[in-house]
Amino acid sequence: MTTEIYYFSGTGNTLHVSEELQKRLPDSTCIPIIGSLKSTPIKTSADTVGIIFPIQAFTLPWIVRRFIQNIDLSATSYLFAITTRVCFTKVFSDIDRILAQQKKSLDTCLSYEMPENYIPVFNIYSPEEIEATESEMHQKLDQIAGIIQKKERCQPQDPFVWSVVSHTVSPLITWYFQKIRFPGMEKAFYADSKCTGCGICEKICLSDKIRITDGVPEWQDHIKCIYCFACLHFCPVQAIQIHRRNTQKRGRYHHPQVTADDIIKQKEK
Ligand SMILES: Cc1cc2nc3c(=O)[nH]c(=O)nc-3n(C[C@H](O)[C@H](O)[C@H](O)COP(=O)(O)O)c2cc1C
Ligand code: SF4
Ligand code: SF4
Repeated sequence: MTTEIYYFSGTGNTLHVSEELQKRLPDSTCIPIIGSLKSTPIKTSADTVGIIFPIQAFTLPWIVRRFIQNIDLSATSYLFAITTRVCFTKVFSDIDRILAQQKKSLDTCLSYEMPENYIPVFNIYSPEEIEATESEMHQKLDQIAGIIQKKERCQPQDPFVWSVVSHTVSPLITWYFQKIRFPGMEKAFYADSKCTGCGICEKICLSDKIRITDGVPEWQDHIKCIYCFACLHFCPVQAIQIHRRNTQKRGRYHHPQVTADDIIKQKEK
């Protein structure tokens, strides 16, 4: 049995979970979604395929949706998805709707609560909270690796109230963020006076949206942001801000075992 684990990660949580799962699954490889999208359609011969990703505005990132639309899973007999924030199970049924075009569906779905990186609204976790999520993640990964190896099905259901919210209020919030908040945000990135012109943001940007001109980063309007937040969190002097979003007052986070180079490698084919 060969397993391919496809992942998309801005601040390292998803990359770390993917690599930890890989250690627990024999004959498995981790493949970045960003690199794999450089030649489409994506063909896999693995008989087990996993997709691991962060949650954005209660749903899957648009780049992950594009990936699922472009992977040919005809050789695959077992599919799983893992999110690195707790989400409504509607996220997984939305994936199933895309997979139905290939007459496929997810066998196993799971959500982890990894540390928050959405600093326009939330503060970052304390070191104690980061440590607690890490040890819980390891325990859950041991369980899920066993389920995947036995090719069992595991599909948690939302409690009734959650299910109602996920089909009523939450799609409206997702719509508002995807159509209004996020497009506004990607026009509002800037580097403050702490910027040293080091160029890390240009190298790490997963959509190649950032260009350094005369030592100053510029976010190019014609390139769509993936909302990975790697630029914000990996700037070594915390110089990147978003206008009117209080980001000066919030800390920065990336998974402690993941480096800027690890994130950049996702762009390799
Ligand atoms: C643009 C954006 C939107 C987000 N929206 C949500 C959300 O709706 N719910 C949530 O729990 N976390 C949300 N998050 C937090 C991330 O899903 C979470 O921190 C994830 O583990 C980051 O994974 P990564 O380190 O692999 O990028 C959001 C993060 C970003 C950057
Ligand atoms: S990573 Fe930070 S310091 Fe380096 S060029 Fe970008 S904004 Fe400036
Ligand atoms: S501009 Fe920042 S948030 Fe947008 S894709 Fe590039 S690194 Fe990610």
